[in-house]
Amino acid sequence: MAELAGIVLAAGLGTRMKSSLPKVMHTVAGRPMVWYMTSLARRLTDSLVVVVVGHGGECVRAYLESERDTLTPFTTVVQSQQRGTGHAVRQARRVLMVNGTCRAKACLILNGDTPLLTEQTVRALIRHHRVKRAEVTVLTTILDRPSGYGRIVRDKKGHVLRIVEERDATPEEREIREVNVGTYIVNGEFLFRALAALTPANAQGELYLPDIIGIAVRQGRRVAAMATNDPLECLGVNTREQLACAEREFRRRIAARWMEAGVTLRDPATTYIDSDVHIGRDTILYPQVMLEGRTRIGEECVIRSHTRITDSIIGNRVAVQDSCVMNEAIIEDEVTIGPFAHLRPGSRLRVRSRVGNFVELKHTELGEGTKANHLSYLGDAIVGREVNIGAGTITCNFDGFRKDRTVIDDHVFVGSDSQLVAPVTIGRGALIAAGSTVTQDVPADALCISRAPQVIRPDAAARRRAARSCVAPSKSQEKPERKSLRRSRRATS
Ligand code: UD1
Ligand code: CA
Repeated sequence: MAELAGIVLAAGLGTRMKSSLPKVMHTVAGRPMVWYMTSLARRLTDSLVVVVVGHGGECVRAYLESERDTLTPFTTVVQSQQRGTGHAVRQARRVLMVNGTCRAKACLILNGDTPLLTEQTVRALIRHHRVKRAEVTVLTTILDRPSGYGRIVRDKKGHVLRIVEERDATPEEREIREVNVGTYIVNGEFLFRALAALTPANAQGELYLPDIIGIAVRQGRRVAAMATNDPLECLGVNTREQLACAEREFRRRIAARWMEAGVTLRDPATTYIDSDVHIGRDTILYPQVMLEGRTRIGEECVIRSHTRITDSIIGNRVAVQDSCVMNEAIIEDEVTIGPFAHLRPGSRLRVRSRVGNFVELKHTELGEGTKANHLSYLGDAIVGREVNIGAGTITCNFDGFRKDRTVIDDHVFVGSDSQLVAPVTIGRGALIAAGSTVTQDVPADALCISRAPQVIRPDAAARRRAARSCVAPSKSQEKPERKSLRRSRRATS
């Protein structure tokens, strides 16, 4: 028998979010809330985690499946009608009860909407449950404004009697500031018997999980409560405002963690780092940098403001100038990027290469020391080492039907404003003259020039000017809109 199983409640309607997305799928620091709760349950229990899904269940389940590598093992069960938190836990019976006995001595039950809850606190709760030899242990906290939460009702000696939901509470009970966080440890045998005894005799006509506390007390079983002194950690996300509050606190924690690990954040409040990002020491992040998804940044990098990096891998001593966007890119050591560069999926920049302003890369590799400094589009290209890509170079990779590759070998010099029409290969050391449209392969060390020859007509410009000035339109012949334009200019001058 397992010591501890986990049950995550993720089937609720989330009405107060006013969303077509299930509540637990709303993200905090780049991960849906259900991920944090399932991951927490997985870390604290003996490989026996049940996630109860219902409203939008397919979406939640598909997401959890896609995260199997980070969340395994877990099982999902469906609560097809949302009849309350007690009813939700009942659905776990199918997985946890075998021949009338529970597969775990105790169950950790987590609401799916408390993403700030820490492992440390839940571990303390588990210890408390064991030390107190309790049948049920509930996590509580004291709030200045407890509205919306279930209140912990105690007797004069301070023993917990029951939990009352706000809607069912008397005015006196509403004054109670100690609230139910929605985190419980319940002995397995008792849990499923108590759930069977729940009734919907309350304002919402639901089966309330917290009612098992009253049932335990009535049966003379031991009930314990542990209060945390960090109310923020206990935040239940029911509204968009609470979601924003969770996001802020989560990001504050992440920023603190990276500063502790030796990363400089010039302005932690405006630096957005998702929970799975990794950053090496002595890297400096300027205000309004966003690091998203599974991005990994090396050591001693400098990332300037207004840059967003998603699911990318960045080496050491990389300099990213202001306002760059990167997605699924791989950047090796000592590369310089930006300002205003756009690296799309499949971009790979080898050591000491350089991408400058208004350069877009897609599915393209730049070799060691290669430079594409200004105003270029490079798509589906393989570029060798020490290549110079002149300003305005464009790989024409799409002919309206299919995409083709451009291959540029080492030490090529591509002059400015060239178009390389794929499929095309430029041999090692070749020189492409500025303004060329290259449609055929260029051999190594060749000069390729493909532009109209230059024509000089001496004094032609001056003659043209003179001819124009003779026939300047008289005022009476002017178009009416020009007249009115002149009038309005006069009026404003
Ligand atoms: C619940 C508690 C309340 C506590 C608060 C803490 C109940 C009745 N009340 O209230 O005492 O102070 O959490 O945040 O439990 N869910 C299901 N199926 C359902 C209903 C809910 O899976 O039929 C899930 C939701 O997805 C959510 C969790 O259970 O993750 C809690 O439900 P929610 O409606 O948010 O409960 P609260 O009203 O916040
Ligand atoms: Ca809630």
